Amino acid sequence: MTKKVHQMSIKFMFVFVFLLSTCKGFDELELLLSVKASINDQSKSLANWNSSISFCKWNGITCFDSSHVSKIDLPGKNLSGKIPDSIFRFPYIQSIDLSNNQLFGDIPQNLSSCYPLRYLNLSSNNLTGIIPSGQYLPFLETLDLSNNMLSGQIPENIGLFSGLKVLDFGGNALFGNIPNSVTNMTSLEYFTLASNQLSGEIPRNLGLMKSLKWIYLGYNNFSGEIPKEIGELIYLNHLDLVYNNLTGKIPSSFGNLTNLEYLFLYFNKLTGRIPNSIFNLKKLVSLDLSDNSLFGEISENFINFQNLEVLHLFSNNFSGKIPNALSYLPHLKVLQLWSNRLSGEIPKDLGKFNNLSVLDLSTNNLTGKIPENLCASKVLFKLILFSNSLEGEIPGSLSFCKSLQRVRIQQNRLSGEMPPGFTTLPLVYFLDISSNYLSGRIDNREWDMPQLQMLSLARNGLFGPLPRSFGSGKLENLDLSGNSFSGRIPESFGEFSELIELKISESQLSGQTPYQLYCRKLVVLNLSHNHLTGEIPVSMSEMPVLGAFLAINSTAVVGNDLCGGEKNDRFTTLRWELVVASGKSVLNKNSKVFLAKDIGSISDSRWMEYWNKLCKIDHPNVVKMLAMCRSEKGGILVYEYIHEGKDLSEVFGCLNWDRRIKVAVGIARAIKYLHCSCSPCVIVGDITPRKIMVDEKGEAHLRLSLPGINSCSDSKFFNSSAYVAPETKGSKDDLLTEKSDIYGFGLLLIELLTGKSWADTELGIRDSIVEWARYCYSDCHLEMWVDTMIKNDQTCTAGDPEARPCAIDLVKNLDSVVRSSSNCVFSGFKLF
Ligand SMILES: *[C@@H]1O[C@H](CO)[C@@H](O)[C@H](O)[C@H]1NC(C)=O
Ligand SMILES: *[C@@H]1O[C@H](CO)[C@@H](O)[C@H](O)[C@H]1NC(C)=O
Ligand SMILES: *[C@@H]1O[C@H](CO)[C@@H](O)[C@H](O)[C@H]1NC(C)=O
Ligand SMILES: *[C@@H]1O[C@H](CO)[C@@H](O)[C@H](O)[C@H]1NC(C)=O
Ligand SMILES: *[C@@H]1O[C@H](CO)[C@@H](O)[C@H](O)[C@H]1NC(C)=O
Ligand SMILES: *[C@@H]1O[C@H](CO)[C@@H](O)[C@H](O)[C@H]1NC(C)=O
Ligand SMILES: *[C@@H]1O[C@H](CO)[C@@H](O)[C@H](O)[C@H]1NC(C)=O
Ligand SMILES: *[C@@H]1O[C@H](CO)[C@@H](O)[C@H](O)[C@H]1NC(C)=O
Ligand SMILES: *[C@@H]1O[C@H](CO)[C@@H](O)[C@H](O)[C@H]1NC(C)=O
Ligand SMILES: *[C@@H]1O[C@H](CO)[C@@H](O)[C@H](O)[C@H]1NC(C)=O
Ligand SMILES: *[C@@H]1O[C@H](CO)[C@@H](O)[C@H](O)[C@H]1NC(C)=O
Ligand SMILES: *[C@@H]1O[C@H](CO)[C@@H](O)[C@H](O)[C@H]1NC(C)=O
Repeated sequence: MTKKVHQMSIKFMFVFVFLLSTCKGFDELELLLSVKASINDQSKSLANWNSSISFCKWNGITCFDSSHVSKIDLPGKNLSGKIPDSIFRFPYIQSIDLSNNQLFGDIPQNLSSCYPLRYLNLSSNNLTGIIPSGQYLPFLETLDLSNNMLSGQIPENIGLFSGLKVLDFGGNALFGNIPNSVTNMTSLEYFTLASNQLSGEIPRNLGLMKSLKWIYLGYNNFSGEIPKEIGELIYLNHLDLVYNNLTGKIPSSFGNLTNLEYLFLYFNKLTGRIPNSIFNLKKLVSLDLSDNSLFGEISENFINFQNLEVLHLFSNNFSGKIPNALSYLPHLKVLQLWSNRLSGEIPKDLGKFNNLSVLDLSTNNLTGKIPENLCASKVLFKLILFSNSLEGEIPGSLSFCKSLQRVRIQQNRLSGEMPPGFTTLPLVYFLDISSNYLSGRIDNREWDMPQLQMLSLARNGLFGPLPRSFGSGKLENLDLSGNSFSGRIPESFGEFSELIELKISESQLSGQTPYQLYCRKLVVLNLSHNHLTGEIPVSMSEMPVLGAFLAINSTAVVGNDLCGGEKNDRFTTLRWELVVASGKSVLNKNSKVFLAKDIGSISDSRWMEYWNKLCKIDHPNVVKMLAMCRSEKGGILVYEYIHEGKDLSEVFGCLNWDRRIKVAVGIARAIKYLHCSCSPCVIVGDITPRKIMVDEKGEAHLRLSLPGINSCSDSKFFNSSAYVAPETKGSKDDLLTEKSDIYGFGLLLIELLTGKSWADTELGIRDSIVEWARYCYSDCHLEMWVDTMIKNDQTCTAGDPEARPCAIDLVKNLDSVVRSSSNCVFSGFKLF
């Protein structure tokens, strides 16, 4: 005891002497004024930093002994400019918090002048350079440098920060290995290196850092096996190793982590079975092992996880039945087991005693009926069971599941009629029951689904007349194809003002196509293979998008008696005028012709100006415009010929990862060029796969179209595309901006990364990428963002064609960019 006190007093003496020797001559007032002078204080947070009052009363300043600055507390004060060195020169300082500002520059290496510092939080700025050395700050307990742009390796002597309890370097650009000396930090409780480019193995001697409670090493490039020594960290509460390149099995030593509540190992290359010892972890709240190559059966021992709320085992190779045990986990909220090889029936009590809000068992080999009690929680909002072999009727109980929002039960063997209340669910916006064996009429039931945007009843055995309405003013996609509907297409379908896609092919419809089908936003109309008669109504060819489409492509109406598509006079009788871009006089058979959509009032001189500007664009990822045929009613655009060029939407399924990334990078380059190098900036408007040509080398080319720039109603034309950012939807006065392009690009990325249409994407990836794209574009740097992708492009093309890790890298980069951008909303999203 006395010995300890004695040691401490020596330590304090030392500090004292040290302070006397190094700090003499510093005037803290002068230092503070120099801090103020060198920081850009937009929000006037330092307004009372005025020598006429004592600096101990200044905003953000706390004093020790009424005379020395001990604490500088200025988080989120909108401070910008270079981080002042003087802030690190207060001899009595214990705590500095400048987090969440816009400071840039390097953190000084030599922090000996703030020797007593215990808390340093510089997170969420734009700091560069390397991690400062630990040797000068022996008392530091908290070091938060997360979400900056720090680079280089973690210093070998990081262990000199031997008193640290909290270390957060997440969201930077650090590379190299974790130095062995980290194990010197035996008091460390919170350890985050997530979202950097660190590699090598996770050090085995992490097992020596016995105080660890939180480990976040996700979103890096760690390889090798998970060290079994992690199982010795008995205080561990969170373990997150996601998005790495870890191989081997889940160590059975994890069974000793009895305080663990969160175990996240998703998106690695783990194999083997779930070790039985895991079922010792009775405190687990969330278990995510998805996107690995784990196999074996899912054990009934899951019954041990009585606190479990989230279970993600999707995208693995699990087989056998879904254990009954899952039905008896009272807190289970989210259960996602999709894309495995599960068979047998869904446990019949699933949902009954749980608290389910999300259930996704899609793409397995499940049989039997959909259990009655899935919605017993009354909070189920996602029910995703598609691509199984489920049979029987849709349970009547789902009619009362008023919380449902997204229901995808297509591609099963469901039969019978839809239960009565199933079409009056108030919150459902996405309902896909296609490719089942449903029967019965749909016109004699109540449809009241005010939120419905997407409805597919395609490929069932439904019959009878079509209903007048589905009780939604928001319907965008309606697919009723492949049934036996009869009678006319109700005129009221013309009132679906938001409709983008209407498909009622392969049915028994007859009569005339109603002229009311004048939906300004309609992009896809397929009424083929019915018994419709008569001319295509004039109103249809006036639809901004469809009119042009019908004039050159009649497949949409093939199989009917319609002839309007072939001889649409409106286009043939127009007087055409050829406008060739200057310097591009040659039009030959290699020129690719596209029909322009509504190009507005052509005599407008601004329009000509815009056209001329587009013609001057010369970028390898933008299709050159050569000429335009125009009349007072419409126009045809002539583009350069892309050898072997195919629409991205056509070739999408055949693109391997390399090529997908090449497309993403190409389009990113095109957008960057159009936004940043063209003056004024060119807005693409709607970045859809249909606008992208992929040539034989896999290079992507963006095809610009001509917006009618002369009036609001013309700019509204773009609203026809689902890819246009929501902020441009609905309000006709909103013009398109760079942000809406980035939003469109975000959606395109989702398709490229997941191989699925964004509308099909689960797990909030759509929201998060799009959020990111939307909020970050202006504050962050397209430059940086494109460059990280281009960097990966190079590493990718060298790799093997199946190289899925390339996509991981791309995702990781998106992620780290998201995290390192101080103004961006990051919600910890997760792909696939
Ligand atoms: C932050 O500073 C920027 C300029 O750097 C200014 O435009 C913005 O309004 C400020 N925000 C707040 C909340 O003061
Ligand atoms: C400091 O405060 C005094 C009195 O409140 C005021 O007159 C003076 O202008 C202030 N000085 C600065 C630099 O803001
Ligand atoms: C650092 O500051 C940020 C933002 O002000 C805060 O969210 C975070 O918790 C702080 N870090 C630590 C370790 O206290
Ligand atoms: C760090 O700074 C202190 C005081 O400014 C000085 O005495 C010391 O030599 C410096 N250390 C290094 C390695 O430069
Ligand atoms: C962040 O730092 C980078 C590199 O120093 C710089 O290019 C960029 O403009 C900075 N961004 C902000 C918002 O300060
Ligand atoms: C480990 O910490 C001690 C102080 O506790 C320090 O003297 C030593 O140099 C550190 N070693 C390394 C490798 O960082
Ligand atoms: C990841 O680490 C491996 C070595 O383990 C290395 O070959 C590869 O280039 C790294 N990838 C990235 C993107 O840093
Ligand atoms: C992933 O790990 C494997 C085997 O350890 C290695 O060959 C490969 O280069 C790693 N890939 C990346 C992108 O790190
Ligand atoms: C758990 O720890 C004990 C001793 O602390 C050890 O004997 C046992 O092997 C460990 N269990 C596992 C599964 O590693
Ligand atoms: C899944 O398991 C089957 C049979 O055990 C095996 O043939 C297949 O390769 C596995 N797939 C993956 C992706 O591991
Ligand atoms: C699904 O199960 C059936 C038998 O129930 C079997 O014939 C079929 O091969 C299974 N499919 C897959 C993909 O495992
Ligand atoms: C019309 O579209 C179909 C399918 O999209 C395509 O196969 C066909 O070639 C097109 N016809 C013309 C004349 O462009």
